[in-house]
Amino acid sequence: MQDGKLYFVTGGAGFIGSCFVIDTLAQNTGNVLNLDKLTYSGNPHNLDSLGPEAKARYNFVHGDIGDAALVSRYLNQCQPDAVVNFAAETHVDRSIADPSAFIRANVAALGVFLETVLNWWRTLAPEKAAAFHFLHVSTDEVFGALGPDDPSFTEQTPYAPNSPYAASKAAGDHLVRAFHHTYGLPVLITNCSNNYGPRQFPEKLIPLAILNALAGRAIPVYGSGGNIRDWLHVQDHCSAVHLALQKGSSGQSYNIGGKSEKTNLEVVRNICLLLDEMRPDAGGSYQRLITMVKDRPGHDFRYSINCAKIERELGWRPEHTFAEGLRETVLWYLNNESWLASVQTGEYRRWIAAHYS
Ligand code: NAD
Ligand code: TYD
Repeated sequence: MQDGKLYFVTGGAGFIGSCFVIDTLAQNTGNVLNLDKLTYSGNPHNLDSLGPEAKARYNFVHGDIGDAALVSRYLNQCQPDAVVNFAAETHVDRSIADPSAFIRANVAALGVFLETVLNWWRTLAPEKAAAFHFLHVSTDEVFGALGPDDPSFTEQTPYAPNSPYAASKAAGDHLVRAFHHTYGLPVLITNCSNNYGPRQFPEKLIPLAILNALAGRAIPVYGSGGNIRDWLHVQDHCSAVHLALQKGSSGQSYNIGGKSEKTNLEVVRNICLLLDEMRPDAGGSYQRLITMVKDRPGHDFRYSINCAKIERELGWRPEHTFAEGLRETVLWYLNNESWLASVQTGEYRRWIAAHYS
């Protein structure tokens, strides 16, 4: 793409945001400014693979989306064509342990951010203002939980969030929508299912299972292991975000999913089988480490996404199957043990000790 645009990305040092930054700089001639607070899950090393040519079009700003003065300064300085908001607190279990942190980041800071972007957007010339997009990255968890035979979530499914994380993201989505309805800010919202792939912080199921298996530790599966998630490779999520930016209609939301529903037990068994093949353990199959543990409070049973709208209107198609994508992901973690070691900071060890004790 020869778009030469300036993308103001937030949370670009996290799992999905870093993939978006890397893909954006690889696929087009644009520039990226990445504003990230570098919370425990934000890691500048996630962008180590950027080559010199890409780095020349990349700038990092350490800061909070809720810091109006800082955000305003950089908006005025770089005059972005799009803001892509990945910044958030993202882990359901942490939201159960400390909901306030999620309300601060995903609702209060987002509200300040929207107001700051709106104030800057109002200063733009009409043509630039009309072409601008504020794309807010959200989750399928805002729709609540499904039973085994319920139809998948569509864009019309009423919001019914169950965890503090999901409720904070739902509140954020409502704010974004309200800024469009009330002030005309050109917004897009994407609601995506569970992502997997390289550089995911190992508090989430897939990297946690890989890490624990490699360390010979128990692989914790909540409850019966029968809860169902729809899994999408992170690059397919990022390609959908790009398409929404290029072709999406202002004020619209788009569901993004992998049509790949798996029980948690299926996911961890598959990881163990891949590890058995790629790094056989003298003690026998890694499946021996799978351990059923106490269920998550209010654990949503099933998420399932109907992504017909983004397929039909924007022509989006995922490129990875779950089987290939998981194989590639396990291989990435095997080949990047130094990355894994670097993210297992004191904070990470404290979380694991407190949560799984
Ligand atoms: P992540 O936890 O890996 O990354 C979040 C990033 O946001 C980190 O770099 C962190 O430092 C930064 N951040 C947090 N608060 C900030 C603030 N106030 N100001 C600036 N930066 C801040 O999360 P992720 O998995 O990459 O998720 C990114 C986005 O995608 C989130 O909005 C999440 O809700 C959404 N999402 C995630 C998934 C998934 O499966 N991971 C699925 C659907 C949607
Ligand atoms: P997670 O990766 O935390 O994503 P989310 O809660 O946003 O879906 O969890 C995915 C599924 O795996 C979810 O049903 C909870 C379950 N899970 C476990 O069984 N054990 C674990 O240690 C973790 C972190 C999650």
